[in-house]
Amino acid sequence: MNDNYYKTKESVEEYIKLAKDVNSGQLIRKLKDFLPTNSLLLEIGSGPGTDFQILKKDYRVVGSDFSAEFLNRLINNNIDNEFLKLDAITLKTEKKFDGIYSNKVLQHLTNKELEKSIHRQVDILNPDGIICHSFWKGKGDEVFKGLLVNYQTDESLRILFEDYFELLLLDEYKEFEDGDSLILIGKKK
Ligand SMILES: C[S@@+](CC[C@H](N)C(=O)[O-])C[C@H]1O[C@@H](n2cnc3c(N)ncnc32)[C@H](O)[C@@H]1O
Repeated sequence: MNDNYYKTKESVEEYIKLAKDVNSGQLIRKLKDFLPTNSLLLEIGSGPGTDFQILKKDYRVVGSDFSAEFLNRLINNNIDNEFLKLDAITLKTEKKFDGIYSNKVLQHLTNKELEKSIHRQVDILNPDGIICHSFWKGKGDEVFKGLLVNYQTDESLRILFEDYFELLLLDEYKEFEDGDSLILIGKKK
């Protein structure tokens, strides 16, 4: 798998243009129903930083990405904030968080990698910690611009998450077309 797409200047600039109109407000409003204001929140795969800007109004957010190209831009645009270079699969940090958020990041992981990520998320969450993740809804997987897109259904997400998280919300929403996306919010068991 070629995961360089997010790591070169040209493709990062292309992604930022493609994603400029994506509105994450609906996801973050749902997170706010479950995660108290001022909680310490880790964002995985902050990318262009659109969600980070909204999240930091209500939370003490630590942004992260595995791409140095995205991270350097995030740091330059948010000089007072903290960012970590983290791979979503291994989440190598000693820090503990009240919540973990990602928007359209975990579809790049195989189910085996997602299982590893879920174990690490449990490790780095405080008791009763909250997760909020979005996925592309569908079956199977495909490769787009050299990147894995691993689709999920309600059922596949239940199987992956339910042993570790009480599911507080599992709902479909529209990113581009009705029902093309899923949001999962869970509380650490
Ligand atoms: C589709 S973009 C979403 C970016 C941002 N969350 C948004 O909503 O615009 C995927 C992001 O996840 C990052 N990413 C992909 N695989 C990752 C991994 N294994 N670990 C950490 N970040 C990853 C990419 O660098 C990119 O920033």
